[in-house]
Amino acid sequence: MEGMLKEGSFKGKTIIITGGGTGLGKSMGKYMLELGANLVITSRKSDVIEATASELQKTTGGKVLAVPCDVRKYEEILNVIESAEREFGQVHGVLNNAAGNFISPTERLSHRAFDIVVDIVLKGTYYFTLAAGKNWISKKQQGTFLNIVTTYAWTGSGYVVPSACGKAGVLALTRSLAVEWAKYKIRCNAIAPGPFPTEGAWSRLLPGDLVKKFDPAERIPLKRVGEHQELANLAAYLMSDFSANINGEVITIDGGEWLRNGGEFSHLELIPNSMWDALENSRKKN
Ligand code: HXC
Ligand code: NAP
Repeated sequence: MEGMLKEGSFKGKTIIITGGGTGLGKSMGKYMLELGANLVITSRKSDVIEATASELQKTTGGKVLAVPCDVRKYEEILNVIESAEREFGQVHGVLNNAAGNFISPTERLSHRAFDIVVDIVLKGTYYFTLAAGKNWISKKQQGTFLNIVTTYAWTGSGYVVPSACGKAGVLALTRSLAVEWAKYKIRCNAIAPGPFPTEGAWSRLLPGDLVKKFDPAERIPLKRVGEHQELANLAAYLMSDFSANINGEVITIDGGEWLRNGGEFSHLELIPNSMWDALENSRKKN
């Protein structure tokens, strides 16, 4: 659960994190600050990002700029990038982490409920990517994108269909631009986390008594959820120059969860040794 990269790995680098005031965005930002980055955090709630900025500045001694922005509004994104450049000179990386999500049978959703999630997840990510990418290309600057998706970006998942559609689009965006913009020295990668406890995710995906009924760790071969520092280590690596030759990749960090639940016979872990012994004995007899 310790930091992985060497001290000063982000010295002189400016990183923007969308949804950086809470949860995983905050944890990833904190680690990049500890590694010497200048950090720009953005989300809709200015009081939340302001509070996080002053907390992180105090705990890490780094510089944090909080700029409110709804990622569905292109003009507001341009303002974040301009503010970041005014404060720190140049932006080196964008971590597209902001998301919206909730569970529901799809037939109970209004079209506006579908829109709200897809607009934050997919439109928010491609708006930020377009704005930052155009800026880097016009100034002939290198840049790195890291997009946070989920494992159901490729399997799909019932009950979170708008999120699955949005995240699938983000994965397609990541892989497409990794190839198209490599000529500008712009890299695009993604991380697909399994369950990592955050207030934002738990309150919406395990509301009410669901948290008592469904233990996410039960579905995971390693029988535990993720630690924020584990994700922060991976994110920092993928946004750092140490991963300079990794491009168009999605790295899963889920303890084996999605493979286990796709594997036809994974449930045979429920068979006790005594039953395996009996099966083996009867095979040997025949
Ligand atoms: C069905 C819902 C709903 C719900 C809202 N709506 N919540 N429908 N079930 N639980 C509908 C509303 O009725 C409305 O449609 C429309 O969606 C907009 O709702 P608002 O509340 O006005 O939207 P807003 O206040 O902008 O809030 C957006 C939000 C909210 C997405 C609904 O949850 C939010 O702010 N989320 C941000 C953070 C977040 O979601 N974090 C979790 C990420 S976790 P009508 O038709 O009534 O107008 C994650 C993990 C994935 O992604 C993988 C885990 C392993
Ligand atoms: P979180 O704390 O709720 O983070 C989501 C952030 O997105 C919030 O800070 C929110 O801030 C911001 N946001 C939402 N709508 C926005 C908008 N329109 N414009 C700008 N910012 C907006 O939840 P989290 O668990 O840390 O999730 C972070 C990322 O990890 C998400 O991409 C999520 O899909 C992904 N993920 C999480 C898990 C998990 O188990 N936690 C698993 C897989 C993937 P405001 O409300 O202030 O705007």
